[in-house]
Amino acid sequence: MADAPKSARLTIGNDTYDLPIHSPTVGPDVLDIRKLYGQAGVFTYDPGFTSTASCDSTITFIDGNEGILLHRGYPIGQLAAKSHFLEVCYLLLYGELPSAPELEKFEHNITMHTMLHEQMQNFFRGFRRDAHPMAVMVGVVGAMSAFYHDSTDISDERQREIASHRLIAKMPTIAAWAYKYSIGQPFVYPRNDEDYASNFLRMCFAVPAEDYIVNPILSRAMDRIFTLHADHEQNASTSTVRLASSSGANPFACIAAGIACLWGPAHGGANQACLEMLKEIGTVDRIPEFIARAKDKDDPFRLMGFGHRVYKNFDPRATVMKQSADEVLELLGVENNPVLQVAKELEKAALEDPYFADKKLFPNVDFYSGIILEAMGFPTSMFTPIFAVSRTVGWISQWKEMIADPQNKIGRPRQLYLGETLRDYTDIENR
Ligand code: SDX
Repeated sequence: MADAPKSARLTIGNDTYDLPIHSPTVGPDVLDIRKLYGQAGVFTYDPGFTSTASCDSTITFIDGNEGILLHRGYPIGQLAAKSHFLEVCYLLLYGELPSAPELEKFEHNITMHTMLHEQMQNFFRGFRRDAHPMAVMVGVVGAMSAFYHDSTDISDERQREIASHRLIAKMPTIAAWAYKYSIGQPFVYPRNDEDYASNFLRMCFAVPAEDYIVNPILSRAMDRIFTLHADHEQNASTSTVRLASSSGANPFACIAAGIACLWGPAHGGANQACLEMLKEIGTVDRIPEFIARAKDKDDPFRLMGFGHRVYKNFDPRATVMKQSADEVLELLGVENNPVLQVAKELEKAALEDPYFADKKLFPNVDFYSGIILEAMGFPTSMFTPIFAVSRTVGWISQWKEMIADPQNKIGRPRQLYLGETLRDYTDIENR
C-alpha cells in the first residue's frame, strides 16, 4: 500500500488531527484511523462496517456502482467463460494464472486429497438424518482439526499449504456425504480420474446399484457455479474467517466459522431462501403481491436474491448465472420451468419498480443459482453447502494473505457503550 501524500484533517473541539490517506491501485481512498483513539480518545462508529476497510488485500476487487468483479485483476465474466474452477483456485491462492505444468501439479495435489479419513464417517452418523447439511458441514469441517494434526500449525508455511489443499479437496466430499446421509444412501468415494465438478456430481448422484455417467453439460454448469462463488472481497463469512484466524485458531476451525456465517439467509443462505420464495410465489400473477410486501416497511419480507451491500448495479455473477440457467434448462428440456418463468417476470417487475430502482436493488448471485441447482437435481438444502464448497478457496486465500501480512494482529473492535454507569450491588431483600 503506497502512502499517498494526502491526509484528512479532523477537528474535535479546539484540537485538530491529521489522518493519513492511503490510495489503492483502484477504488476509493481510505482514511487511516489506527492512531485516532490514541491521539484523540475517540472511536469511529460503523455498525455493519458500511464505510470501513478492515484490511488491505490483493485478491478480489469489486466496483459496486459499475458491477465489476475482478479476481487478481481478471474479470469474472472472462474467468467464467474461459477458465475452470481449479484454475481459478490457483489464481486466487497464488496470484497468477498457472502454466500448464503448474496447473497439472496443482490439480494432482488437490485430487490426491479428496478422500476423508475413514473414521470421519462416524461424525456424519452422529447427526439426525433430517439435519440441515450446513449443520453437518460446520461439525465435520471443525472436526478436521481433530484428524489432521499435521496441518494445524499456522506458523509453518508448509502446513498452511497442506491445510489449504486438504480443505479445497475435501469440501466436495463432505458436502456430498452430508447429502447422501440425509437421503439414506451410501457414501460414494471420489475418483482420481474425474475432474472436480464431475467428482462432486458423482458423489452426490451415483448409487452402487448402477453405473453413473456424468453429464458434461451439468459438469460444466457445476464448475461454472463453483467459479462464480469462489471469492468476494471482505463479505461477512470471509470477515468471520479473518477474525477467527486473527486469534491464531487453526484453519479447520476458522473455515467452520465461515461456513456457520455463510448459512444465514442474508448471506449464503439466500439461494435456498430465494428458490423457496419463488416457489411460494408460484405463479406470475402473484408477483405484485410479493413486490408490495417487499416494499412494505411493516413487513419483514424481502425479495431474496435481490439487493447487495456493495453492488448498486447488476451483480456480474448474476448476469452469467442467468445465461447459464437458460442454457442448462434448455439442454435439460425444462426451459419452460415455471420457477424460471416466475424468476424472470419477478426480476422484470422489480427492475421496473421505482422502489428497487431508487434503492439500487438488483438481482445478486443467489437469484438464479437455485434454479440451476434444482434443475440439476439438488434439494434446496444443498444450495448453501455448494456455495460453501466454492467459497472455501476464497476463505483460504484471504486467510493465507492475512497470516502472511506483517501487520496481522488480533481483531478486537470497540463499542459505543449505552448501558448503566457504575452502581453498587443490591441484596435481594432490598430489591
Ligand atoms: C450474498 O457481501 C457479499 O459479498 C455477499 C455475497 C458473497 O458473494 O459473499 O455477494 C453473497 O450474500 C449476496 C446477498 C444475498 N442476500 C439476499 O439476497 C437477501 C436479500 N437481500 C437483503 O437482505 C439485503 O439486500 C442485503 C443483506 C443483501 C444487503 O443489505 P444492506 O446492504 O445492509 O442494505 P439494507 O438492508 O440496509 O437495505 C437498504 C434498503 C433498506 O430500505 P431502507 O431501510 O433504506 O428504507 O433497501 C431495502 C432495505 O429495506 N432492501 C430491500 C432488499 N434489500 C434491501 N427491500 C426489499 N427486498 C430486498 N431484497
